[in-house]
Amino acid sequence: MPSAAEIASIQAHWNANVSANKQAVGNALFQQYFAKYPADQGKFKKFAGVAAGDLAGNAAFNAQTLATLTFLEKVVMACGNGGAEMMAAQMPAHHGWGVDQSYFKKMFDFIPGFIGENGGDAACVAAWKVAGAELTAVCK
Ligand code: HEM
Repeated sequence: MPSAAEIASIQAHWNANVSANKQAVGNALFQQYFAKYPADQGKFKKFAGVAAGDLAGNAAFNAQTLATLTFLEKVVMACGNGGAEMMAAQMPAHHGWGVDQSYFKKMFDFIPGFIGENGGDAACVAAWKVAGAELTAVCK
């Protein structure tokens, strides 16, 4: 479990940098994640075949990234207070889409560095590593 200071760092960064920009940040997160793990785009049947350069203009991609960031915001704001349980509750549906814990490990390993490139300081990046490990562990 992240410490109170770590949770505060994650939430302060989110409020200052992500909250009002969830669409843009979500698009950037998934564009960069797919650049690293191209095969994973295939899990998203609604935009599986869309070229990387066309994702930003694709309605289904935009809807997906906004839905994901909106959900992750709830998890972040409930961190230490039910957030992990909320994340875990997504797993039955994700298993149905062929997305198991190994994909969440990749995503939650990726997020800290992404946060560091988007306004997060070293303490925030370190806090996200702790939170990401916990969230990965519950995504069974
Ligand atoms: C930060 C971690 C993640 C969060 C918070 C998250 C959240 C969500 C949410 C809220 C939905 C919509 C649920 C619904 O329609 O009932 C969703 C759908 C989905 N997610 Fe995730 N997700 C995460 C990571 C991933 C990863 C890493 C993958 C695969 C690489 C993935 C694949 C999918 C797929 C395939 C769908 C269904 C899309 C569709 O056809 O509508 N998710 N996710």
